[in-house]
Amino acid sequence: MVGLLTDTFGRVATDLRVSLTDRCNLRCTYCMPEEGLQWLAKPDLLTDEEIVRLVRIAITELGITEVRFTGGEPLLRPGLIGIVEQCAALEPRPRISLTTNGIGLRRTATALAGAGMDRVNVSLDTLRPHVFKRLTRRDRHHDVLSGLQAAREAGLTPVKVNAVLMAGLNDDEAPDLLAWAIENGYEMRFIEQMPLDAQHGWRREGLITADDILLSLRSRFFLTSEEKELRGSAPAERWLVNGGPHRVGVIASVTRPFCRACDRTRLTADGQIRTCLFATEETDLRGALRRGAPDEEIARIWRVATWGKKAGAGLDAPDFEQPDRPMSAIGG
Ligand code: GTP
Ligand code: 5AD
Ligand code: SF4
Repeated sequence: MVGLLTDTFGRVATDLRVSLTDRCNLRCTYCMPEEGLQWLAKPDLLTDEEIVRLVRIAITELGITEVRFTGGEPLLRPGLIGIVEQCAALEPRPRISLTTNGIGLRRTATALAGAGMDRVNVSLDTLRPHVFKRLTRRDRHHDVLSGLQAAREAGLTPVKVNAVLMAGLNDDEAPDLLAWAIENGYEMRFIEQMPLDAQHGWRREGLITADDILLSLRSRFFLTSEEKELRGSAPAERWLVNGGPHRVGVIASVTRPFCRACDRTRLTADGQIRTCLFATEETDLRGALRRGAPDEEIARIWRVATWGKKAGAGLDAPDFEQPDRPMSAIGG
């Protein structure tokens, strides 16, 4: 019997984000330091079988309908295709998506689509290779563009492109990125930078906000807001570009948090449930799995954790504390 993941604010989590690894082949400045991080040790990672079992429990016992694989960089996980295949064979079949930096997509897009992946979101913050190199500390701009194309050709659509805008780096690129995305058949989304970098260097001053982004886009495009009802629980506010059919999204996690409509639950690569990106507490499922707990017990632990979900990220609260885990170990 399905018992939903409900919290004390009446929200129901139906969207599961699974981080498959905390490793990454880029070093985006808003995420990781140059030298990388202390990676999780292999025995601490959930195995492919453990991940598929937890996804099965989430679907059959807890009412999850959407599964998104994230990282670090999820394409670095050797068993990804097999995990997707097994998740796509579950009943009821979840919708399956991926958030990736795109570097490995040229190599994997066809196999992913064949395994049952429905769509992908790709991070790309700039159209300028030298800015890409400065921002990610790697010279892989071309690989991302090529990966994006491969994803579109493999039918992993809609392909969404995520860009975090930063003052003095790429904040002048919003209109160019949108024009490029429209021309290439991608859905462009701009994201406010959140305090989730491992270096704890985030400052609100100088943040490129949703209002800044919209102002910049309106210098070249005519934008009309989509109906509120169409947004549902999606973090992106969407706008029709020049009357449609193309759209652009703005994810204003800092200045217009969407926590009241949040429908997410997260699983880290080492088997911890996080009820919020900004949760300061986690609930261990790996221990229960490895001690041989039955499905019902695991489902119960997940429900109890969700019941304790806090109202929101609380970025404006005077006692706001950045979580210990950085973005790369949570999965965005
Ligand atoms: P769609 O289903 O395609 O809309 O995916 P998504 O936008 O939820 O996922 P994606 O992984 O592409 O994330 C885009 C941005 O939204 C990233 O910066 C995420 O960190 C952010 N994001 C995702 N989930 C949450 C959330 O629960 N809270 C907040 N504040 N930001 C989130
Ligand atoms: N703030 C906002 N978005 C971030 N991402 C990574 N770090 C941050 C941050 N500090 C984005 C990536 C990717 C998604 C998973 O989250 O660019 O698109
Ligand atoms: Fe890697 Fe994503 Fe972090 Fe960039 S934001 S370093 S692509 S995990």
